[in-house]
Amino acid sequence: MEQKTIQSIIRVEQLNSGYQNSHILFDVDFEARENKITIVVGPNGSGKSTLLKSIFGLCTVYSGEISYHGKKITGLAPHEVARRKVAYLPQVDNVFSNLTVMENLKMASYTLDSKTVTQRMPEIFETFPVLRKYEKSKAETLSGGERQMLGMGMALIRRPNVMLFDEPTASLSPKLAGEVLSKIKQMRDDFGITVILVEQNVKRALSMGDFVYLFANGKGVFKGKPDELLKNPELGKLYLGIS
Ligand SMILES: Nc1ncnc2c1ncn2[C@@H]1O[C@H](COP(=O)(O)OP(=O)(O)O)[C@@H](O)[C@H]1O
Ligand SMILES: [Mg+2]
Repeated sequence: MEQKTIQSIIRVEQLNSGYQNSHILFDVDFEARENKITIVVGPNGSGKSTLLKSIFGLCTVYSGEISYHGKKITGLAPHEVARRKVAYLPQVDNVFSNLTVMENLKMASYTLDSKTVTQRMPEIFETFPVLRKYEKSKAETLSGGERQMLGMGMALIRRPNVMLFDEPTASLSPKLAGEVLSKIKQMRDDFGITVILVEQNVKRALSMGDFVYLFANGKGVFKGKPDELLKNPELGKLYLGIS
């Protein structure tokens, strides 16, 4: 049996990447297993967002390899990565403020045929009931948490295999943050989505993650199960402010 084939859907090997001449990630190894939630934590500026952007084809890769289902995707453009059913939800707002909730969802599904959209729309409203309530409201009138839900709904309607989340709970109240994270878990459970989640709220993220990576200064400094990281007082104190 070959060890390497354990259901790893995204694999990053010895990645060196950054922004043109600005080298940010150094020899990063990373994998996300199928149907699991893999958390990425670390201080500000440690390269978490750069990892997601590298996977999604938004960074310059100097060396190393990124693969999806065992096939190389290094250097592909974002739309080509998206075509492989990888969805990226960036840190900034990713909805069209001037459009209604329904229009946003339709916009997100413009590449799908109308029969598929008709089938999937009710599932989106089932997963995110709040969106049904605001179906005809402009996205700009939604709260931060509701906009996150809309962003997730827009990704979900395309039925991704992998979702990359960059701090989806940033600037949300603890209650809303909890709701957003539980929706992410629900999408994993109901739709079999593999999740890579960059999260600031370490303790909460670790409680829902299957695996965790800790980044510092552009390098992976820990990889393991969340409780192993929580039990490691040195790493927690040094990088995460956990005492
Ligand atoms: N577009 C960019 N161009 C140049 N440098 C960038 C760009 N985006 C981020 N960086 C730099 O990359 C480093 C890592 O940033 P980032 O991946 O956003 O960290 P994190 O998400 O962990 O806070 C930082 O030093 C940041 O200034
Ligand atoms: Mg970031």
